[in-house]
Amino acid sequence: MDTECGKEPGIEEASPFVVKKRSKKASVVARRWSSVGNAVVVALIMAMPPIVLILSGRLGAPSVWIQSTVAGLGAQRVAESKKDVLLGGLLLPGFDEQSCASRYQSVYYRKNMTRSPTPYLIKRLREQEALQRRCGPGTDQYRRASERLRSGQKDVETVDGCSYLVLLSYRGLGNRVLATVSAFLYAVLTSRVLLVDRGKTMGDLFCEPFPGTTWLLPLDFPLQGYKDLGEEAAESYGNVTLRGETGPASAHRFVYMHLDHAASKADRLVYCDDHRQFLHRVQWVVMRSDGYNAPGFFLNPAYQEELHKMFPRKDSVFYVLSRYLLHPTNDVWGMVTRFYDAYLKNADERLGIQVRVFDYDDVHFQHILDQILACTSQERLLPGVVATSTGARLPMPAARSKAVLMTGLNSWYHDSIREMYWRSASASGELVSVHQPSHEEHQSFGQSTHDMKALTEMYLLSMTDKIVTSGWSTFGYVGTALGGLTPYIMMKPENQTMPDTPCKKAMSMEPCAQGPPYFDCTRKEDTDAGNLVPHVRACEDMSWGLKLTDPVTEN
Ligand SMILES: *[C@@H]1O[C@H](CO)[C@@H](O)[C@H](O)[C@H]1NC(C)=O
Ligand SMILES: *[C@@H]1O[C@H](CO)[C@@H](O)[C@H](O)[C@H]1NC(C)=O
Ligand SMILES: *[C@@H]1O[C@H](CO)[C@@H](O)[C@H](O)[C@H]1NC(C)=O
Repeated sequence: MDTECGKEPGIEEASPFVVKKRSKKASVVARRWSSVGNAVVVALIMAMPPIVLILSGRLGAPSVWIQSTVAGLGAQRVAESKKDVLLGGLLLPGFDEQSCASRYQSVYYRKNMTRSPTPYLIKRLREQEALQRRCGPGTDQYRRASERLRSGQKDVETVDGCSYLVLLSYRGLGNRVLATVSAFLYAVLTSRVLLVDRGKTMGDLFCEPFPGTTWLLPLDFPLQGYKDLGEEAAESYGNVTLRGETGPASAHRFVYMHLDHAASKADRLVYCDDHRQFLHRVQWVVMRSDGYNAPGFFLNPAYQEELHKMFPRKDSVFYVLSRYLLHPTNDVWGMVTRFYDAYLKNADERLGIQVRVFDYDDVHFQHILDQILACTSQERLLPGVVATSTGARLPMPAARSKAVLMTGLNSWYHDSIREMYWRSASASGELVSVHQPSHEEHQSFGQSTHDMKALTEMYLLSMTDKIVTSGWSTFGYVGTALGGLTPYIMMKPENQTMPDTPCKKAMSMEPCAQGPPYFDCTRKEDTDAGNLVPHVRACEDMSWGLKLTDPVTEN
């Protein structure tokens, strides 16, 4: 595991994400995008009472999800049939609902958005979609650009008005989701087409976000060995700038941005590049990232105005962008909705508790359980229990129910808390039920089922009302930010003892950037980057991390 100065950031995976062979879904993309015809079908589906769909049966193959749709939404959907599924223009109409049900259904499972996308952001997203379609895979522009890359041609002034950002995301799923949203923001900021290396599982996890094109990097991408690019590469931003090859006459076949959490300062200086100097002339940029990079972009004076127009509220960058970009595939969405409907939907209140114990997946610790209980008690998230022998409390006729969703690699914490509320009555009279979808014991990498379960759990966490997360965990960051929830973060224990402060309410819902720039861009001198602008601060759970916050609404 990479470490830096003895700090060991909360990466979720020890070995780099290894990328392998093709996913069968690649070539199917084109036919997924059907326009007007399906828009009509979609409109009909949205308007018809669900029961009609089962009987009609004319949609053939997708009957499985239609039934799950019906089971999942039922009366709720009829009652709220006027929901704004396109989220105030954030999403485009015209996608094929059957190929990606979550796009149209998630609004029925989630709270109304607490931060609306600005008209300016929506305009920029529409421009990005147009760019992705005009220059993306399958176009002549893409063919010419990849031919230039293959032939090693260097004077690649951004020909055809098309330039590209290839993302290699790696480590655990939380890391990869954070990297993907960050890369998308960077692509929009620099007007590059985003192409994501699919790894083994990307195509199984998320639907295509852009209409009429694919965001998956074609399998015949011509840059040899690109999956192994690392900090030592001659093309890395750090090396290119150290060699001073950033003048007007210099030319590069491609530039590699190494945004690993432990990247060197030379590589991290890309956070300060205004892209106009020389990067804009480089047609291909390959970015490797294992985390959330957005706070670093907000420190770059060159992007401040644009970012402010896109996000006047700085505490919801991931929240808004993820609603636009990330739509789980039908397989994942089915797992999310079945679990939610079975265990969480009918509770009066839902609490998420995400447990991540670094380095020890398969053993359990009393101090972690103590910390969870101390936190939920201190923050009044869970009631205490009364010993049944002291005169049993009779359940109240209409007792409030509280469903606790727990996630983690180990089931012991879940079992212990469930047992506690089974053996004893809650002091508040509430009925507490405790649920955990999976306990995989060990983190696995690049394995589809494992990643699908992990993504399911991140979404389920995001559908709770309040959430307790483990510090340093990118899994927790994603669950929190997807849901627009301000978490109670459990501080990472030192020395296997419960910290004095078991948890802290976070300043915002935003994820923490674990390998941010630590200098100011004007002087390039090391500084406390958490003090440069009011909306970028040190994270609660990691002193050298940075997170976005909105100083006005901070609680
Ligand atoms: C959520 O938004 C819908 C409109 O899409 C509105 O009718 C409803 O009242 C809102 N619900 C809450 C709880 O604010
Ligand atoms: C690039 O930089 C790294 C340090 O970040 C160094 O180890 C490596 O030798 C450099 N490679 C080249 C080709 O300049
Ligand atoms: C951790 O425990 C060891 C002994 O077990 C002790 O020497 C060390 O100071 C402790 N560190 C902290 C941060 O409490």
